[in-house]
Order: sequence, then C-alpha cells, then structure tokens
Amino acid sequence: MVSNNSKVNIYIMGKKYAVPEALTIMDAMEYAGYQLKRGCGCRAGFCGACATVYRIGGDYELKVGLACQTKVEPEMYLAQIPFFPGRKAYYDLEDINPSTATLMTLYPEVFRCLGCNSCTKVCPQDLNVMQYIAYLQRGDFEKAAHESFDCLMCGLCVSRCPVNIVHYNAAILARRLYGKHILPPSPHLRERVQEIEDGKFDKELEELMNAETEKIEDLYNSRDIE
Ligand code: FES
Repeated sequence: MVSNNSKVNIYIMGKKYAVPEALTIMDAMEYAGYQLKRGCGCRAGFCGACATVYRIGGDYELKVGLACQTKVEPEMYLAQIPFFPGRKAYYDLEDINPSTATLMTLYPEVFRCLGCNSCTKVCPQDLNVMQYIAYLQRGDFEKAAHESFDCLMCGLCVSRCPVNIVHYNAAILARRLYGKHILPPSPHLRERVQEIEDGKFDKELEELMNAETEKIEDLYNSRDIE
C-alpha cells in the first residue's frame, strides 16, 4: 500500500515542488500554493475546465489529462490549458437545418480533416473524436451527436489539430441540430413546460428564493443524484 506521506517531485509551469504522491494534479497544485480561479470547476471529471498537458522527465511523449482526475507522477512537468481559443460560430437554431450545407457554412474546417487521429489520441474522455468528425462530414448528425455525447469541451482536441478543426463546437452544433430538428418532440417536456407555465412550481420556487443559505445547502447536499 502506498503511503500518503511519500512525496514526488513535480514541475508546475516549470517550477519544482515536492507533493504527496497520492494527490491529483489539481490537489497538488493547491498543495503547492496555487489558488485556482481558472482551470477548476466541478472537480469531478464533468466540466472540462481542468485540461492539463504534461510530460514525464526523460520521456518524449506529451500526455494529457483532467487535473481533477489524474494522479501526479514523479518528474511530471505540467501546465494547464483552462481555455483554448477555438473558433465559435454563431447561429440561430430556428434558422438552420441538419445538412452538410449548414456545416459547410458554420464549420467548413471539418471538411479539411487529414485523418491523423490526433484528436482521438488526445481526448481525456477517450472519445472517438475523428469518428464523429467523419459522421459530420457525411451529414449524419444523429451518429455525431451520440458519439460526442460525453464531450466536456476541454479543448485539447483543438489544440492538437493540424487543420484547426474546432471539434467540440462542431459536435455541440450536431447535438443541437439533432435535438431540435431530428428527434421527435418529447411529450414529457411539453407537459413539464405546461406545468411551469401553469404555476405548479411557483410556491416551491418562492420558498427556495426566501430560504436561508444553510437550508439551500442542506437541500443541495441531500438531493437525489442520478
Ligand atoms: S474540474 Fe471539472 S472536469 Fe476537472
């Protein structure tokens, strides 16, 4: 069994720190004194805010991971990429349809894919990113939506793409088009919207708005988690 007292040397933005070996990268950064205002969100592997690149000393390979999920390793040289400036198209979902013409207009770089598979290799979620790009090129928005469903939008795929495809933005376009124009309308959703409009939840909302912070925290911490 590994002792929590053992320390390993890691390098954060080039500076050396000795940190307990049982820590995640995120915990190690805080242990080293960093106060995370960017590059940290859910702390549970869901939000994609903590994308990190690292290399182990002496090894040529650049690795990636989510800082909140990846354990530190001896001689780890790391830097965080809390935001990657990928291009984002603007559109009104009401005005566009699920077609290759839409994709060609909004994200034409998708059609420049070289098939190098760098996006798939770098994905910390182990998604088959190049596959959903291929589905998009074919205009198969349903398959692209399903294949990309677990994307956290961390941006690492974009950081490695030689033709500057913004995979996660093209994928969220696919999921939006699928939800809006391909999936049949959900009767449950329509019923729930009607209930909201009829004021069914007004009293509960009013109570929440007036509740003490402690009570809201209790409710939050004891909520059902699917
Ligand atoms: S902090 Fe949200 S995925 Fe790591």
